[in-house]
Amino acid sequence: MIMNTASNAWQNLKQHSRDMKNTTLNQLFECDADRFNRFSVCLDDFLVDYSKNLLTDETMALLAQLAIKSNLVERINEMFSGSAINISENRAALHTLLRASKPTSPSGMNIERLKQVQESLSKMTTFAEGIQSGKLTGSTGKPFKNILHIGVGGSVLGPSMAVKALAPYSKNAIAIQFVTNVDGADLHDKMSNLDPETTLILIASKTFLTQETMLNARSARTWITKALGTKSVGNHFAALSSNLKQTEEFGILPERHFELWDWVGGRYSLWSAIGLPILISIGSENFRQLLSGAHQLDNHFRNCSLEKNIPVILGLISIWHRSILGYKSHAIIPYDQRLELLIAHIQQLQMESNGKSINRDGSKIPTDSSGVIWGEVGTNAQHSFFQLLHQGSDIIPCDFLIAANAHHDLQHHHETLIANCFAQSQALMKGRNLEETKTHLRKKGLLQADIERIAPHATFPGNRPSTTILYKKLDPKTLGMLIATYEHKTFVEGVVWNINSFDQWGVELGKELANQVLAAVKTEPAPSELDRSTSGLIDQIKSFQKAIN
Ligand code: F6P
Repeated sequence: MIMNTASNAWQNLKQHSRDMKNTTLNQLFECDADRFNRFSVCLDDFLVDYSKNLLTDETMALLAQLAIKSNLVERINEMFSGSAINISENRAALHTLLRASKPTSPSGMNIERLKQVQESLSKMTTFAEGIQSGKLTGSTGKPFKNILHIGVGGSVLGPSMAVKALAPYSKNAIAIQFVTNVDGADLHDKMSNLDPETTLILIASKTFLTQETMLNARSARTWITKALGTKSVGNHFAALSSNLKQTEEFGILPERHFELWDWVGGRYSLWSAIGLPILISIGSENFRQLLSGAHQLDNHFRNCSLEKNIPVILGLISIWHRSILGYKSHAIIPYDQRLELLIAHIQQLQMESNGKSINRDGSKIPTDSSGVIWGEVGTNAQHSFFQLLHQGSDIIPCDFLIAANAHHDLQHHHETLIANCFAQSQALMKGRNLEETKTHLRKKGLLQADIERIAPHATFPGNRPSTTILYKKLDPKTLGMLIATYEHKTFVEGVVWNINSFDQWGVELGKELANQVLAAVKTEPAPSELDRSTSGLIDQIKSFQKAIN
């Protein structure tokens, strides 16, 4: 299907946005006492309030028409059926099968895939229990006290995010650290506090070829073998990968190889063997809860009508913001310290999936695709970039995330956190006009001259959109629901933009050039085929290096 922005569905939305030009959120709330109820959806202990976005019933109806014209329902079914919807790589995108208890379609292939998933989960569980209980030890017989998980992108962002988010559910004293950057400082600083005898190293790489991960893995292997001898590799390493051949060549024992498959994309892989550190940290029952939360959301996404479907609603609002209203970025603001790493996870999820300009048919897409996803935890963000959110020239929709209940007993902290979260979305929406600002300053006792001078700076335009995701408590099931929500939201956007959300060709050129440049960095002088800027920089690097040595 070619996406056609001249179609009625797109043009109706464009016209509607012009009709809405003078409407404000304050007006929408004033004329509809029930707006919160009508523009929020609750699924068990998970509530999404999208009432503070500039939209009406008509907006949602027009967006739903666009979704229908984009064959969203058919495309959802295609994804769950396991057809090769990742057309440029001829692969299925079946991360939903990783959290399913039954095959997501009756095809023989999916039944076989589910069997493999269950076998893999059971192998992971046995291994995790062996590590937790101390039955599996390092080469000198000492139990493991530390885990270094080495990976990059989807092979680290999901697991590190979930381990931190679910820290209160951690079952044991094994400390898990994540090494991701090829900058040696990352590995060096983490290894320097560890004892090789009690350290287990997980190499997480779907391809087992990624330059940064493999370099970190080889350096970690040297660190282990120097301290404990070459035979210790079998005891101290495990691989989470689809590349059995490469893991064997590295020295990983087959029983320490945890498999994933080409139908699991990197940024959707935390549910697979890539999630082994999560399982080790929180135990198998909690890990299953994480999967079950995501599975519940999958069922909701697959079966619920478009009007009440959380990922559909969020995906369509995102289309409204980006392609119709032209907003350039979207901020994720968890008022939840333990969700600090969720921002980077969603960033990869949305920007690597939909940061593309080519249709599924190979032609250029006629509208803007994914904007920049960014953010920071609240309340920290309030004291850095919220100035721009409130008074800057760009409108940036925000997602606010907050739990009703904390895991600690510092109740006053949690109440303050909640108050700040809600106050910010309220301030973004309501704003404060010039007259209100002057009254406010007058009440504070300022002189009239000061009021006139300060008031223009202290007004707030308001009418700035936000969505609030509120959950009972950040437990494994809720985290599963939350991540799956963003996965499917991303899918919905990709369907409407007619993008293949499951490939990532945009990362390839830089990877190829890095190999060429590496050769140049190592040779002397830099080869002449490099562009002048790059060769100039390399020459300068060499001169700075000589000056130090
Ligand atoms: O460079 C991008 C990417 O391919 C991501 O899509 C992926 O999550 C990451 O690199 C890591 O890849 P691998 O798991 O194969 O090492």
